[in-house]
Amino acid sequence: MSLGTKLLVIILLLLLGLIVHLAYFFTVIGVESSAVSERNSDDVENPRLGSIHSHLFWFVQITDIHISMYFDPGRATDLIRFCDEYLHVIQPDLVVASGDLTDGKFADHRGSGQYDQEWKRYHEVVSVCRKYTPTWLDLRGNHDSFDVPTVNNPNDFYRKYSVQGPEHPVSYSYTHQKPFGNYTFIAMDACLEPGPKRPFNFFGYLNSKQRQLVEQYREAARGSNMTFWLGHYPTSTILTEGGHPVRDVMSGGIAYLCGHLHTLGGVVSQMYTRHKTGTLELELGDWRDNRRFRVLAVDHDILSFTDAVLGTWPIILITNPKSATYVTAGLEATERTQHSTHIRFLIFTPGSVNNAEVYIDDINIGKGRHVEGSLYVTPWDPSKYTTGIHSLRIVVQDSLQNRQTVEQPFSLDGSRDRFPLMSRLILMVDWFDMGYCLFIFLVFVYVMVLFLLWRCNNVRVLYVPDSIPFLRPFLVFFNRWLYRTWLVARTRSLYFLLTGFILYIAIGPWFVGEMLTGHTGVVFVWGIYIGRDFLPGTLTYYYGIGHIVIFNVPVLMFLGYMMQYWKEQRNKHWLYRLRHIYIPFSVIVLLQAYLTKKDFPAAYGPKSLLSPVRLGSVLLTFLLYHLGKNNAIKLHDSSHRS
Ligand SMILES: *[C@@H]1O[C@H](CO)[C@@H](O)[C@H](O)[C@H]1NC(C)=O
Repeated sequence: MSLGTKLLVIILLLLLGLIVHLAYFFTVIGVESSAVSERNSDDVENPRLGSIHSHLFWFVQITDIHISMYFDPGRATDLIRFCDEYLHVIQPDLVVASGDLTDGKFADHRGSGQYDQEWKRYHEVVSVCRKYTPTWLDLRGNHDSFDVPTVNNPNDFYRKYSVQGPEHPVSYSYTHQKPFGNYTFIAMDACLEPGPKRPFNFFGYLNSKQRQLVEQYREAARGSNMTFWLGHYPTSTILTEGGHPVRDVMSGGIAYLCGHLHTLGGVVSQMYTRHKTGTLELELGDWRDNRRFRVLAVDHDILSFTDAVLGTWPIILITNPKSATYVTAGLEATERTQHSTHIRFLIFTPGSVNNAEVYIDDINIGKGRHVEGSLYVTPWDPSKYTTGIHSLRIVVQDSLQNRQTVEQPFSLDGSRDRFPLMSRLILMVDWFDMGYCLFIFLVFVYVMVLFLLWRCNNVRVLYVPDSIPFLRPFLVFFNRWLYRTWLVARTRSLYFLLTGFILYIAIGPWFVGEMLTGHTGVVFVWGIYIGRDFLPGTLTYYYGIGHIVIFNVPVLMFLGYMMQYWKEQRNKHWLYRLRHIYIPFSVIVLLQAYLTKKDFPAAYGPKSLLSPVRLGSVLLTFLLYHLGKNNAIKLHDSSHRS
């Protein structure tokens, strides 16, 4: 085996290690455990899911409202419209507003802080909404904690203007009491404290104190019929102190309702999954750009929900039988469906319902009959559908010329549909761990490759034989770049500068900045010090990966290319040199110069201009160019002399 092959093998092994590590999460994604605890069969039959409006309530969730001084006043006015039109018709028992109530971003999209006006506007809008639904469970998101040093600080406007804040500055628990049962809502606040300005305020962090608090709420809710968890951040973006899996913290919960990721820019419109613990995680698309909202119903202790967009009427929510996708056996009384006498569904419309047709497996089984309020029922015989997955479709026509169809799978034998891979991936991968591993991997490979090439006297022994026919172009390409990288690594000064710089990125401070107004902090890739407080690194690792990808790797490749050029002095035409040397050089330098000036200073003040990583990259590129060129010319001269 040649040394080059060994090198390739080592890198491939490392890559394999990374994949195996990450694959662990993918296996977790595949596992969906079934029954957690069986329910008492007495309450399975009694009360029966029939044609009476009982043992039923519903509520609404909205998230990521982002009321802003600078952008789209419609976020607030549409919310008022939503309350006037939708809450008025739906009449939910309560509304959950899961964070990012206000935007807190400056007009330049980079700076951030808390604005009195935005919070006053939120307060105003919510006052209108609470005329329809007084119980309003709001909680903080990362935007509500930009530039908030501590809870209770005058800058913590959530405490002053939100509904829950005055009484509950952080996490809280609310139990909704109905004649037929108790339903607990645990709001889990995972905002950073201190809360830096953006962008390094993106991941949630659950410290031990907060975790113990919500665990107390969880234990106190053991007697409740159901426990809902509310939060801003999906669990995949929450880091916990001591590494306690946050999904275990909320075990026993029927569902975790969150937001934060919006719709990932429209890429993933629905992010739902079921964790190993049985808890559903239901991320809701944002109000900010998409005007989404969610209606959830609990019918005889079975949870159903539907996500809709402002402007949609009528809204149809089937509560029995429940969708086969979201069944969480053991956590809800789904067995009741087998003994039910009626299909049950809610229709919300500002008009009246003209017609509702019910189909199972494309066969019409009758019309929906109005019971009371928004509840409609159709008699059915569940014993006809005991095995496999079936399809239930309801078509509703209202008096306002609106027509809606809902179709969902159901099963009575516990068969379940799978969630789409993308949505499982986003909600079940640990994004902190992913960033951390990838960053370490990149640094390690970079340092290793340079080290091995530095120690190698004759690059030819490293070449991978390029005799395999269909891989030939790739192998020739690999050898060519191996040679160029070798030229760089063999230049002592370049070797030490490049290795030193990437290690600096991993270890040393990136910049000093005003992380919060009046609070200077130091940012490392592994964490941020603000005064005596320390916030572990999260998004910083992604910034690290970004820097390696747009600077360390391109500059290494550029140096190799340039050194080969000066060493061989192939084409001396100035146009050639412009295209192959000066333009790539300028692109690398200008991109870093732009980031140096724009990125951190706009977010964390002028001090952060002096970033050893960003400004350092600009200066370093000139130095590297100079050293590389000199050495290449020396190599050229010596090869010509001999
Ligand atoms: C709620 O729990 C109580 C006690 O376990 C039970 O009697 C009651 O039937 C439950 N409510 C519903 C709607 O199932």
